[in-house]
Amino acid sequence: MEIHALQQEILRLKKARDICILAHSYQAREIVEIADFSGDSYQLSVQAKTAPQRTVLMCGVRFMAETVKILNPGKTVYLANGGAGCPMAEQMDRELIEALRPSYPGYTVVAYINTTAALKTICDVCVTSSSAVKIVKKLDNPNILFLPDCNLGTYVARQVPEKNIKLLQGGCPIHARVSVREVEEARAAYPDAELLVHPECVPRVVERADFVGSTSAIMAYAAASERREFIIGTELSIAEHLSYRCPDKRFYPLSKDLLCPNMKLTTLMDVYHAVCGQGGEEILLEEETIAAARRCIDRMIELG
Ligand code: 13P
Ligand code: SF4
Repeated sequence: MEIHALQQEILRLKKARDICILAHSYQAREIVEIADFSGDSYQLSVQAKTAPQRTVLMCGVRFMAETVKILNPGKTVYLANGGAGCPMAEQMDRELIEALRPSYPGYTVVAYINTTAALKTICDVCVTSSSAVKIVKKLDNPNILFLPDCNLGTYVARQVPEKNIKLLQGGCPIHARVSVREVEEARAAYPDAELLVHPECVPRVVERADFVGSTSAIMAYAAASERREFIIGTELSIAEHLSYRCPDKRFYPLSKDLLCPNMKLTTLMDVYHAVCGQGGEEILLEEETIAAARRCIDRMIELG
């Protein structure tokens, strides 16, 4: 089927079946185009709370669909491609953190939203890359255990030096791969460009950036800036989306390895099969998991 015709059919079916399509900004352009909303993890969580439809289809990775289900237990929630996980979210499980917790008595446990629903049940508050600094600043407790991403955690710790932030050794294998050498090469190749970087990159890359922010913050910054050229230090799709949004500007990926295979797993055909009721994976979580995990996501939205 031709892409435009397929998109029209998806739009018709989702309306007829009362489905809201949410797409993370790392999704392919043809998926972002037919979504009711696309954005970063924080924006998707907020959007999930207000979507009027009975069914939500998440085009992204599993923890994002779980977040939608936790915030909307009465809705039917699907992950468009059930194989799409986030390796970082799978690095630490509930048992590991329960075992570590006695070593951090009195600490507030701050979980990046890239964690499983089961792990969220024993954490105190969630954060996303766009809300982490703001939320950690607002916490009364000076002692914070931040998990799983030590790169985002280091960024937060540098922005909030008044807190005692302990980190665990997790992180995004895609962003953590970017090297200082790639930064130097990109700077030499594009001397007039600004370097915009996601805080999941290693500190030595982040500290060389002109701007650090979430996927949506990077897009908003580049769109609003008077500059004409940008080196984009996050998943390749962001440079592509920006080049359509701002055709008069130039966007260069910081590294050709910044490709998240899990985010790229979802295809427009997956979305089509899901809106036909013949695909996707329904997210099913125990009631107790939803109730316990919801505390820390609600707290994130309250403080964010
Ligand atoms: P954002 O919170 O910026 O959307 O990031 C989510 C993610 O998985 C980045 O790798
Ligand atoms: Fe997970 Fe990294 Fe992919 Fe984001 S880019 S979904 S953190 S593996």
